[in-house]
Amino acid sequence: MFGSSTQVVPDVRPVPRHIAIIMDGNGRWAKKRLLPRVAGHKRGLDAVRDVIGACRRLGVEHLTLFAFSTENWRRPEEEVSFLMDLFLRALEHEVERLNSNNIRLRVIGSRQRFGADLAARIAEAERKTAANDGLTLTIAADYGGRWDILQGVNALIAEGVTEVTEQALCEKLSMHYAPEPDLFIRTGGEQRISNFLLWQLAYAELFFTDQLWPDFDGKALEDAVASYQRRERRFGRTSEQLPEALRRD
Ligand code: IPE
Ligand code: IPE
Ligand code: MG
Repeated sequence: MFGSSTQVVPDVRPVPRHIAIIMDGNGRWAKKRLLPRVAGHKRGLDAVRDVIGACRRLGVEHLTLFAFSTENWRRPEEEVSFLMDLFLRALEHEVERLNSNNIRLRVIGSRQRFGADLAARIAEAERKTAANDGLTLTIAADYGGRWDILQGVNALIAEGVTEVTEQALCEKLSMHYAPEPDLFIRTGGEQRISNFLLWQLAYAELFFTDQLWPDFDGKALEDAVASYQRRERRFGRTSEQLPEALRRD
C-alpha cells in the first residue's frame, strides 16, 4: 500500500517511479496529413510501443496511459467504435510481447459500456501478465477522475464506513496498487487535465508539449524526464528543508 503524498512525503528518486500520460493530438496529426482522424489513432500505437521501451530502459516502475475518457463517448459513433476495435486488436496482438518483456498490464476504468469480447480480452490479458514485475503498464479506458473518486467513496459506503479518510479512499481508488504519478505528460499542446487522475495528480510535476502523440517517442520521453530532473519537489516544505540531493538551487 502506498501512502498519500499529502500525508507522507514521497520518496523522490532521479527517475520517476510513475509516469502518467495524456496521449493527445492523434486527430490533428491525421488532419495535417489529410488523413481521417482514425489514422492518427492507429499511428498513436507506434508511439505507445516506443514509450514503453523507453520506460523499461529508464527503469520506470509504472506507466499509465490515458486511452479513452468517460467523456470520449461523446465522439462520433464511428470514431468510438474504431477506438474500441483498435483497443481489442492491440490486446490481441501485443499481449505476448508485453509478457516476454516482463510487463504487467492493468486496465482501469468503468468497463460497463465495453462489449463482452473486449471485456473478456482485458481480463485475459491482465491474468496472463499478472505475475510480471518489470514495468506495470496501466491503460485508462472509459476512465474519469471523478468516476474513480465516486466509485471509491461508494465502495466505502457499501462497507458501512461513516467517515471517509484519505488512506481508506486511496485504497479504493483504481490505482491503489501504484504510487502517485511523479511526472504527468500531456502531448498535443492543450494544458489541461481533462478529468484524468484528479486525486492522484495532487503533487505530480506537469509537463506539456506541443508535439502530437503520434510524433512522440522514446527520445521525447527522455526529454520530459530530463525536465523532471531539473525540478525541485517540495511537497509544501521550504527549499532549505530538503535533503541536499533534492535541492535545485
Ligand atoms: C487523443 O487524440 C486520443 C483520444 C482521445 C482517444 P485526439 O483524438 O483527442 O486528437 P485531437 O486532440 O483531436 O488532435
Ligand atoms: C483526453 O483527450 C483524453 C485522452 C487522451 C484519452 P481529449 O482530446 O479527449 O481531451 P479534451 O476534450 O481536448 O479536453
Ligand atoms: Mg484531443
